[in-house]
Amino acid sequence: MTRRSLLDLDDFTSDEITGILARARRFAADPPARDLLRDVCVVNLFFEASTRTFTSFAIAEQRVGADIVALPPGSSSLGKGETIADTAITLAAMGVRVIVTRHPESGFPYRLAESFDGHVINAGDGRHAHPTQALLDLLTLQSEFGKIAGLRVALVGDILHSRVARSNVIGLRALGADVTLVGPNTLLPAAMAGPGVRIERDLDAVLPNVDAVMLLRIQRERIAAAVLPSLEDYARNYRLDARRLAALAPGAIVMHPGPYNRGVELTEDVFAFAGWRYAQQVAFGVYVRMAVLDFLVNAPPPGA
Ligand code: NCD
Repeated sequence: MTRRSLLDLDDFTSDEITGILARARRFAADPPARDLLRDVCVVNLFFEASTRTFTSFAIAEQRVGADIVALPPGSSSLGKGETIADTAITLAAMGVRVIVTRHPESGFPYRLAESFDGHVINAGDGRHAHPTQALLDLLTLQSEFGKIAGLRVALVGDILHSRVARSNVIGLRALGADVTLVGPNTLLPAAMAGPGVRIERDLDAVLPNVDAVMLLRIQRERIAAAVLPSLEDYARNYRLDARRLAALAPGAIVMHPGPYNRGVELTEDVFAFAGWRYAQQVAFGVYVRMAVLDFLVNAPPPGA
């Protein structure tokens, strides 16, 4: 289909990413009138549990004045044998212009986009991609440091199962950050290294040398017990606690996409840490999603 979608961050050029971040920053400073998507119908088609992302998209859609329909998990006819293509045709025939979708299968939004005459936004597919999460993370870094190029960012934990990590690596590299992936062998295959992306097993060696740490949740629901000997073992090597926070460079920040597991990837100390940016990330999520909706539907020139 000819209409643009956001399936992963590599759908956008670096200039487009920068433009969307700038637009989101403007929206945060000066909320736009609620008519950017007036008369545009958006369907939220979520097949997986979601607190943050679902609510954030719904609020963003309201703030740009869209007409919103939310289909809760289990309520679509896909369970009755209707194909993805038929669902796409049906929704388009009613005038739906945007589908925001989350699905446990990697690639689901791609198949939807192939048949849908409108814009598809991937709100998380399997372990594959979560581009709007990466955008809000980029906005958090940019607002903190005034730039992304040259920043040293460590992603820590269950990289293997993380769609957040995959989309963040694309975005961070596109904007020139240096990425270090940190985690145990079983959750971080060496093959994930590449230009500007290195692998490190020893979190303690990394902490003093980064500007930002992005913690990831251990994806218990996606993990076969086989990949992790024990959560205690994981916590000993990778949990962020008071001692590890003290090892961070001055001014470094700690991020987490949520939901976080208290006691697993972080201790309560993190919530009292001055550089903890979780709430900021969540707040930026709404503006980034408004900016993506505006960009896709109203197709303004890059950087506008
Ligand atoms: C993440 C997700 O669902 O991909 N959460 C989020 O959207 N903020 C991360 C996770 O599930 O761990």
